[in-house]
Amino acid sequence: MPAELWRPSLDLALHRNRNNPGLRLVQLATVRPDGRPAIRTVVFRGFLDDTRQLAFSTDGRSAKRAEIAANPGGAVCWYFPETREQFRVTGLLSLVDASTPDPALREARADLWAELSDETRTTFTWPSPGEARDVGRPFPSTPPNRAEPVASFCLMILTATEVDHLELHSSPHHRWQFEADAQGRWSGREVNP
Ligand SMILES: Cc1cc2nc3c(=O)[nH]c(=O)nc-3n(C[C@H](O)[C@H](O)[C@H](O)COP(=O)(O)O)c2cc1C
Repeated sequence: MPAELWRPSLDLALHRNRNNPGLRLVQLATVRPDGRPAIRTVVFRGFLDDTRQLAFSTDGRSAKRAEIAANPGGAVCWYFPETREQFRVTGLLSLVDASTPDPALREARADLWAELSDETRTTFTWPSPGEARDVGRPFPSTPPNRAEPVASFCLMILTATEVDHLELHSSPHHRWQFEADAQGRWSGREVNP
């Protein structure tokens, strides 16, 4: 069984479930600096060219920054109701911001910024997430420049190191596990569900 199968399987699930409005919403789990779990919904923004890098947008002022700095481990979980499949992608998280030197990553960040709606871009100009709300202070409502990401905007990347794919539509169910070694070579096997 070619190990790279997980990516075509995930692409196929995204395609088959394309009419589901929640398709691009996934739950992202991280580890807080004190070891407690953290989880939240984020929008999957597609893969970077490297087939195992999942892209998301996030605010660099959010709690995720400190969590990722202390422990880059992260995982996302998808459930596709039409095809009754679950994908769990585990790996290493990184944030790309204005201080990132790599030109390809800087370009990927700028591209993602340009793809966002004005409404979403504006949220990155709001006061810092998680801080006490000052009810007397109106939030900015003017969309920022589409051509220049604001400092708070981050491209967040999950570089997959393990994938668990569960299919419920047949009986018995099917489950596959894939794992990347340190060189990024994948191996995989079918396991009991
Ligand atoms: C439908 C939906 C989509 C969301 N999309 C994103 C997203 O793409 N990126 C993001 O950082 N937060 C997104 N959020 C907000 C997060 O769930 C979370 O509240 C925020 O990122 C702060 O999380 P943190 O304090 O754990 O860093 C979304 C929330 C919902 C309900």
